Amino acid sequence: MQAIDALLTRRSARALTEPAPDEGALELIFSSAIRAPDHGRLRPWRFVLIRGAARERFGAVLADYLRRTHAQVGEDTLERERLKAFRAPLIVVVAARCQPIAKVPVIEQTLSAGAAAHAMMLAAFALGFNAMWKTGGPAYDATVKTALGLEPGDAIVGFLYIGTEQGERPALPRGTWRDLVQELAPAP
Ligand SMILES: Cc1cc2nc3c(=O)[nH]c(=O)nc-3n(C[C@H](O)[C@H](O)[C@H](O)COP(=O)(O)O)c2cc1C
Repeated sequence: MQAIDALLTRRSARALTEPAPDEGALELIFSSAIRAPDHGRLRPWRFVLIRGAARERFGAVLADYLRRTHAQVGEDTLERERLKAFRAPLIVVVAARCQPIAKVPVIEQTLSAGAAAHAMMLAAFALGFNAMWKTGGPAYDATVKTALGLEPGDAIVGFLYIGTEQGERPALPRGTWRDLVQELAPAP
């Protein structure tokens, strides 16, 4: 697939199954991630790969977050939360580990992690897989971060669920870009 076709046709998956990207595909996906623009060459990206039986552990982390933050939540709801970890055969937690450097504000380092996440989604799509980018409360919770092996100060920018999509589904129209763009005229 040409890069421009991936850029113009990528859309999120609704449901994902096996096969997950194999080691060769993961090599390309992570290599794409670390091509993200990186002000100051800080390499602010951190990734947690979750697959196979480790998804059970991720599901427990999600359910524990829900239990801690919603006192009245029932067992059925907790079970549904646990099952979110099985929405795809593979999950990559994408985080920014920002350094306090005046020349490169934290927002720029965080944006770089966002760019890495997008690059991973596009790479997966170009390789015949697809992905969903999710966040929610757990992405911002220090206990969740620690449970996933990250540092409490890391910023999780996304949980990328990656796998194979069944069937074809075109991208929904996004409207025109023209009403979003204004052109600065030369100085009078
Ligand atoms: C930082 C970020 C976080 C997101 N978090 C969620 C989320 O938690 N749940 C969700 O349904 N969509 C979330 N989305 C949106 C979807 O990933 C997706 O982009 C959106 O549904 C539009 O679909 P499309 O990618 O096919 O255009 C998030 C997107 C971004 C960029």
